[in-house]
Amino acid sequence: MSKAGASKKDTTKASSEAAASASISVGDFAEDLPVYSGTMGPQVIDVSKLYTDTDYFTYDPGFTSTASCASKITFIDGDKGLLLYRGYPIDQLAEFGNYLETCHLLLYGELPNEAENKDFIQRVTRHTMIHEQMNRFFTGFRRDAHPMAVMVGSVGALSAFYHDSTDISDPVQRDIASIRMIAKMPTMAAMAYKYSIGQPFIYPRNDLDYAANFLSMCFAVPCEPFQVNPVLARAMDRIFILHADHEQNASTSTVRLAGSSGANPFACISAGIACLWGPAHGGANEAALDMLEQIGTIDRIPEFIARAKDKNDPFRLMGFGHRVYKNYDPRARIMQKTCHEVLNETGSDHDPTLPVAMELEKIALEDEYFVSRKLYPNVDFYSGITLRALGFPRTMFTVLFALARTVGWIAQWKEMIEDPDQRIGRPRQLYTGPVMRSYAEIDQR
Ligand code: ACO
Repeated sequence: MSKAGASKKDTTKASSEAAASASISVGDFAEDLPVYSGTMGPQVIDVSKLYTDTDYFTYDPGFTSTASCASKITFIDGDKGLLLYRGYPIDQLAEFGNYLETCHLLLYGELPNEAENKDFIQRVTRHTMIHEQMNRFFTGFRRDAHPMAVMVGSVGALSAFYHDSTDISDPVQRDIASIRMIAKMPTMAAMAYKYSIGQPFIYPRNDLDYAANFLSMCFAVPCEPFQVNPVLARAMDRIFILHADHEQNASTSTVRLAGSSGANPFACISAGIACLWGPAHGGANEAALDMLEQIGTIDRIPEFIARAKDKNDPFRLMGFGHRVYKNYDPRARIMQKTCHEVLNETGSDHDPTLPVAMELEKIALEDEYFVSRKLYPNVDFYSGITLRALGFPRTMFTVLFALARTVGWIAQWKEMIEDPDQRIGRPRQLYTGPVMRSYAEIDQR
């Protein structure tokens, strides 16, 4: 019997009408729960009325079995190694498309036609500068601050500058805030970098495309002309596409949760950046590069493979394995190709870490331990080598990830605000603390 005798039809709407139902029975309670099908992927059991009806919560630490929302943006099939943005495979977008087209796709649901593309580029380009007072804000940070710390603070501070685009109930203001963030993030990221190395900020150049402008703001100096290498700009653009969205990961869920209270959009993105900064999320490419350098030469690979298999050794092959992909991470393939292109172009194809990476990948893909556990290289395996060859120090790797992911965060934030079923996020808990007790005076404790 259900606690409130509630109608089983009265359900929170997921992506489609209930196709079936699942039954749950606990003690005296029995409940039919609606099951919804999406367009692809596993069906979901709707437990949103479970507590009202039965007095039970579900328990799912890390939410690894819980769909927190219905979304039309990104689809991942980890077993098949599939990543789709609005239905388009990531490899097609990376090969044939560009980052701003991908941003349009993620934000508005469709690739732009020619007129829409022109308009979108123009709108983004017009917002690349940041308020001049932000320059002074930057100088408040210690010179040796981590660029991610600077990003968390400075992107959050944008909420103090753009008051005309923070009424999130107004679709026009939501759109302006979205465009502003996509446009300004490269400027902010480049400023965080320039500040950390003591060089003057370089203003955006609106005659350049998105990735080329970013490279210019990072690597140009005022005392000489700077030519952007188109091969490197294309590689940067592709890296942005690969990282643009990844459905409900930790930082995206953070942005959605922060935004669910109606918080300022710039502050929500700053919360996403803070989450991404954690080594378990955005820091793996740095760890992979460290590991490849530590291995040093091909002849030492067997030693490290043996360590990775040893249960008494905490060492893991960094850049291998993924919580979701139990097949080759589709982004890793593109990143490997991009890595070769960048190293060829920069003349760093003698980089000793590349042959180590390639041989390590080859050995691990044939090794029973890795094969049986479905451990394949992930996107981070080759991205550290690539970013270093592009000229970025390790501390900037996660900043670049944050820059690229901003559009995904915004698209997901927008989708949440526009979803009539969304409410303020409020997970529950299994309380394991002391039962109720009375306050004791200090001399009685
Ligand atoms: N090297 C060696 N063994 C590994 C590795 C690895 N990189 N990854 C997993 N394993 C082993 C585990 O020891 C475990 O073995 P067991 O079954 O004998 O106990 C088995 O494979 C399953 O491992 P889990 O940790 O349960 O797998 P999970 O899917 O939870 O972990 C994770 C995924 C955290 C990414 C893990 O593979 C890992 O630590 N990889 C290295 C770090 C890394 O590259 N992270 C980047 C992820 S990509 C991103 O965030 C963008």
